[in-house]
Amino acid sequence: MSKRYPKTLSAGANNTVIALSETEAGKLFIEDTRSDIGSEAEKMKFANTINGLVVKFIRLDLMPDDTEVLVMERLFPLDFRAFEYEKRQLIFEVFENELRQLHAQGFVHRDIRRPSDMPGFSFDNIFLTPSGIRLIDVGISALRSQVGDKLFNKFVEQELQELSAFETFFLNR
Ligand SMILES: Nc1ncnc2c1ncn2[C@@H]1O[C@H](COP(=O)(O)OP(=O)(O)O)[C@@H](O)[C@H]1O
Ligand SMILES: [Mg+2]
Repeated sequence: MSKRYPKTLSAGANNTVIALSETEAGKLFIEDTRSDIGSEAEKMKFANTINGLVVKFIRLDLMPDDTEVLVMERLFPLDFRAFEYEKRQLIFEVFENELRQLHAQGFVHRDIRRPSDMPGFSFDNIFLTPSGIRLIDVGISALRSQVGDKLFNKFVEQELQELSAFETFFLNR
């Protein structure tokens, strides 16, 4: 029988994500990629201090082969279609409030909708879970304190447009 963990969850363009256990997922950071484990961890931790929307950071660690890994809470998404329209409206409302709260506190996710010219599911960083919508992947997220007001406000404006596209998708599919 094959060993239970770690097991690959996703082998994406940038990072591989593995299941470390029933409760922990790990994003592997191979050296020489453009993504930076330290800043991704800091952004995740900052969002976690504001509310529960972004997946919870657990720790930074090394795999047995010395690969750097960002360990986070493992999420188990549900299918949107299993929920009544009215329930989805309520779930969306909570999501919108939490996203706006992140913006108000200086965090913008920036990746809730994949650009339409990129292959794959448009909203793959949005997970519907038993406790509502959660966001993963803060790889390109920005903090107001780092990028300044001008860029931050522009990113928020873009995010609200992406949110509106998600609303249409989530409620009408
Ligand atoms: N916390 C998690 N729980 C379960 N699966 C996850 C988690 N984080 C990432 N994944 C899986 O790994 C994929 C890629 O993760 P993501 O952080 O979006 O990396 P990338 O930067 O490659 O887009 C996700 O689409 C999902 O399938
Ligand atoms: Mg992603």
